[in-house]
Amino acid sequence: MGDARRLARGDRLVVATHNAGKLREIGELLAPFGIEAVSAGALGLPEPEETGETFAENATIKARAAATAANLPALADDSGFCIAALRGGPGVRTADAAMLPDGSRDYGVGMARVRANLGEPENTAAWFVCALALAWPDGRVDVFEGRVDGTWVWPPRGERGFGFDPMFLPEGGSETFGEMDPEAKHAISHRARAFALFKAKAL
Ligand code: IMP
Repeated sequence: MGDARRLARGDRLVVATHNAGKLREIGELLAPFGIEAVSAGALGLPEPEETGETFAENATIKARAAATAANLPALADDSGFCIAALRGGPGVRTADAAMLPDGSRDYGVGMARVRANLGEPENTAAWFVCALALAWPDGRVDVFEGRVDGTWVWPPRGERGFGFDPMFLPEGGSETFGEMDPEAKHAISHRARAFALFKAKAL
């Protein structure tokens, strides 16, 4: 992996995601740095298959595919919701847990499915993980990983955020990620923590 190269103000960076929630959050995190974020969707880039077994592997696959196809640096996020009683699941398969037969995703359905698999475990520990991979057109990649710990709650609470946010209560907090002000989520989230590492090395 070696030393990360840096991005400069005015550089174009492909955000290699087709997930609107992630795109919005990454766009908000990048905005103060003068980096022009272009989404993979807007460039018409295909979505590669996520065949990795870890968040870091999947982020690398997505970032590399976008950087090569667009001939620009690319940043990919692979993230997910992990539950101790499910041995870290749904984890890298979080998006699949919300998949409907027509290929679309419904996170209300996804949360209910995950809850149904849980039973009544004593251990309610849960965490989110985010791996951010920054790939360059020459194939070099740097990966930055962040995590936030807490518990899962049922029923889900709040309409903010996206994905599994309403089911996650961060450690020491009283509001779920679905109830929190976006700024409060950005102060502690897995994505913000991964982004802080990315920022220190690449911005
Ligand atoms: P993937 O990284 O595209 O495979 O999908 C990750 C999935 O994890 C998303 O579709 C969300 O359901 C979930 N996820 C990742 N980050 C967050 C978050 O910040 N809040 C809520 N759900 C998240």
